[in-house]
Amino acid sequence: MRLIQTLGEFIINRQAEYPGATGELSALFSALRLAAKVVHREINKAGLVDITGAAGEDNVQGEEQQKLDVYANEKFKTALAARGVVCGLASEEEENFVRFEEGLNLKAKYIVLIDPLDGSSNIDVNVSVGTIFSIYKRISPAGTPVTEEDFLQPGNKQVAAGYIVYGSSTMMVYTTGNGVNGFTYDPTLGVFCLSHESMQLPEDGIIYSINEGNYVHFPTGVKKYIKYCQVEDDATRRPYTSRYIGSLVSDFHRNLIKGGIYLYPTSSRYPNGKLRLLYECNPMAFLAEQAGGKAVAGDNKRIMDINPTELHQRAPFFVGSKNMVEKVEAFLREFPK
Ligand code: AHG
Ligand code: MN
Ligand code: MN
Repeated sequence: MRLIQTLGEFIINRQAEYPGATGELSALFSALRLAAKVVHREINKAGLVDITGAAGEDNVQGEEQQKLDVYANEKFKTALAARGVVCGLASEEEENFVRFEEGLNLKAKYIVLIDPLDGSSNIDVNVSVGTIFSIYKRISPAGTPVTEEDFLQPGNKQVAAGYIVYGSSTMMVYTTGNGVNGFTYDPTLGVFCLSHESMQLPEDGIIYSINEGNYVHFPTGVKKYIKYCQVEDDATRRPYTSRYIGSLVSDFHRNLIKGGIYLYPTSSRYPNGKLRLLYECNPMAFLAEQAGGKAVAGDNKRIMDINPTELHQRAPFFVGSKNMVEKVEAFLREFPK
């Protein structure tokens, strides 16, 4: 019997199942977990040192950057550039994609899209935040500079995706298209240990997660769904429970384990939804589907089939337990406007 299985061991064991694997994706994951550990360390002392609060700049989407947004972005960027296995990165915190052209990077085949710190408004109040990542193979030939086209691929082309949740413990949850596995960080050993093998999103749940303060601005179908969640019905365990942290990673993580649905619909304030397709919706959609759940942008609109046209494009997002997502789709179908 094995003592523990570290994330590093798990990746090496899995690699043996893919003849011809070059080890580049393993090296990429090694960079991700190094950066995750550094960010974990910083977040854990957030109340003690001067790293909470605003950085004094807005990002490309006009949102105020927090110091830890900037910090996490730098750490992930530096770690990913150091291994020679990534040729470019796009980030919520960078207006344009970044080319990695030094050394072996120019010839590398992978690109990464990242939300370095998700839910960053939670950081000042000691509530969970996360990092989201999405990995593709470039389309442009290796050895040439990456192009925007490399980043504007639909989610169904993702090679791997995942998140790190910096919560009561820090965890990395990821997929390479062969199920979803979760690893909890042991800070005394400095390693992520396999703790949640083959994660499955329950088909049904009783949790709905949405910023209900925006209710008046929601489309009718969403309003009707919220009212449906609140009606008493023993057979379907309603009324459901409302849970909303305001950090997609944390809300998704809870619903993945317990069963539930996360909704960020269109509203008058966000006519295309708020969440970013490439580094928030697609990676979560990949994880949800790999765990048996579902992710759509509207009725019968699979998130991962959207062809992106812009790096920071937004999308309405409904993700979670399959039956719950299908119920929302039914309401959106019945009330299209
Ligand atoms: P970020 O901190 O990366 O900008 O993302 C915040 C996102 C998401 O994590 C969260 O679910 C959502 O914004 C919360 O938005 P509201 O405050 O509008 O509910
Ligand atoms: Mn985010
Ligand atoms: Mn962010």
